[in-house]
Amino acid sequence: MIVVGGPAANGVDEELANLLNAKLIKVEHKIFPDGESYIRYPTTNLRDNIILVQSLYPPQDKHFVELLLMLKTAKEFGAKKIITVVPYLAYARQDKRFLEGEAISINVILEAIEHFGTDAFITVDIHNPDSLKKLSIPYVNTSAVKPLTEYVRDKFIHDISNTIVLSPDKGGIKRARKAAQILGVKYDYIEKVRDRVTGEVKALPKELSVEGKTVFIIDDIISTGGTIALATHSVLERGAKEVYAACTHALLVKNALERMYKAGVKEVVSTVSVPSPISKVRIGSIIVEALRELRVVK
Ligand code: R5P
Repeated sequence: MIVVGGPAANGVDEELANLLNAKLIKVEHKIFPDGESYIRYPTTNLRDNIILVQSLYPPQDKHFVELLLMLKTAKEFGAKKIITVVPYLAYARQDKRFLEGEAISINVILEAIEHFGTDAFITVDIHNPDSLKKLSIPYVNTSAVKPLTEYVRDKFIHDISNTIVLSPDKGGIKRARKAAQILGVKYDYIEKVRDRVTGEVKALPKELSVEGKTVFIIDDIISTGGTIALATHSVLERGAKEVYAACTHALLVKNALERMYKAGVKEVVSTVSVPSPISKVRIGSIIVEALRELRVVK
């Protein structure tokens, strides 16, 4: 077994190689003056099973092309099975035609990843797990809820019995339930409501009261920070004691962090699937579990 780290592995390759006690090959890469990507394996002895790690954080298109170059080249140099690990799978939010004529981007991305030599596929908290049904190879969409929740519990929350977990939307309720189970507390999802008098939009839990509570909001992606900022502002206004937030993929577009802190969030943390100032939570152990599920390792 060889672990191959791509230019956008962000340390997940090293963690996996350590956990699996496997050889690590770091792919060489550079960018030509015209912006094109260059990939080179430092050895052509790739006749083994390969775990290839490349996340698809921005610049997504560049990291995607690099991934395809690595896949095709590994096959050309005799790689047996390639298990492709993409911690953050870009383009996953365009998973249907919202308007006639649109590209269903995630289908194209997955089809190419399979076509260029992937024998099994692992990602983390994909936006819509149903998107993976398009693949005809084995796959696992693993969840980062456990390491994220344990991190928040151990580093930030002092009074667990006074905590509630919230999902920012109904679609993320399973994530909130799992986090709540780990903490042994209640959970709910947030609904957006417009104040009929002022017209102001608030984001409040469907059932639970936040009065005096420590609130832990868990989401898959933080992009502009708008979702977390609105939820934080709304629950603090309703009397919540403090708010902590966690997400799997911290894209943090523009001033997302500042926006969330300004809204009153006390701490926010994410996994290392995307590099950012809040990317603290390791995901090697959940990827090893996924490799076990695929029977790649024991
Ligand atoms: C939405 O479906 C996702 O789960 C996130 O809530 C969303 O992508 C967050 O985006 P933003 O940080 O821009 O509000």
